[in-house]
Amino acid sequence: MEASGPALVTGASRGIGRAVALELAARGFEVVATMRDPASGKDLAEAGLRVEALDVDRPGSFAPPVGLRVLVNNAGIEGPQRPLEATPIEAWRRIFETNVFGLVEIIRRALPALRETRGVVCNITSCSILAPVPFFAAYRASKAAVSALGESLRTELAGTGVRVLEVQPGAIRTDMLAGSEGPPETGTLEAYQRVAEHFQRLRDATRDQFEEVDVAARAIVDGILDDTAMHRLAPDAMSAGMLAAWRASDDETILRGFLAALGEGARD
Ligand SMILES: NC(=O)c1ccc[n+]([C@@H]2O[C@H](COP(=O)([O-])OP(=O)(O)OC[C@H]3O[C@@H](n4cnc5c(N)ncnc54)[C@H](OP(=O)(O)O)[C@@H]3O)[C@@H](O)[C@H]2O)c1
Repeated sequence: MEASGPALVTGASRGIGRAVALELAARGFEVVATMRDPASGKDLAEAGLRVEALDVDRPGSFAPPVGLRVLVNNAGIEGPQRPLEATPIEAWRRIFETNVFGLVEIIRRALPALRETRGVVCNITSCSILAPVPFFAAYRASKAAVSALGESLRTELAGTGVRVLEVQPGAIRTDMLAGSEGPPETGTLEAYQRVAEHFQRLRDATRDQFEEVDVAARAIVDGILDDTAMHRLAPDAMSAGMLAAWRASDDETILRGFLAALGEGARD
């Protein structure tokens, strides 16, 4: 597609959303950078982007701009890094409210305009859904839900000219990544301690694959502009490796391979 006309990004106050908003603007789009607190977008407004308030949990009467051509559903939260057994149902609800229900409602409101312009829906999921990563069950489940609904949407929209793109980041240097670097919160649940320690060691070994946010934003916008791009896009080295392995493998091999990577001590 041509880089012109309105593009809307959710969660553009910081991290990937902010970088993608700036990159879309640099390529020629009229960017509406939405965020919970528009005061966080002062520098974006100074750079010529339109900053608007949008909490995807409470979209109120928010309406996407007329002539919308690109929607980037980026707003997301990760939640606590705990065993499923120790994750309260309220935490699941909070994560699904933002990552799934908020996203669905914004897509619903944007689709009439996107059909008119034959635009692009770009959903940011996570490559963590491609492997049985422990202690992120609620987060992974929310992203897998978005992945599934994106596939349905793509098929529903066949013939309309609207493209659906799923971006599966791996490890991109943002506040979210920094917040998830610490050890899982197993608390007093001794049963999970062994897996938690092995998982932490496995993660520590992948630090050299962390990607800068600007590099990832360029890859994401390249995918938005490329009408021939595949449905799933890997914007960084870790996700590229995981997506390639997932495509070349099968479910059982991936499950067993991850357990093996955790090390002997973490296996039954
Ligand atoms: N970084 C990674 O390595 C990585 C990996 C896989 C997937 N992802 C996904 O990429 C997306 C961006 O992540 P990030 O790393 O840039 O995270 P981040 O630095 O924590 O930024 C998250 C953004 O989402 C916004 N947000 C949260 N709840 C919102 C709500 N209810 N309404 C509107 N905005 C809301 C935040 O706004 P406030 O400033 O108001 O909090 C912030 O702008 C997320 O969907 C995340 O799951 C990231």
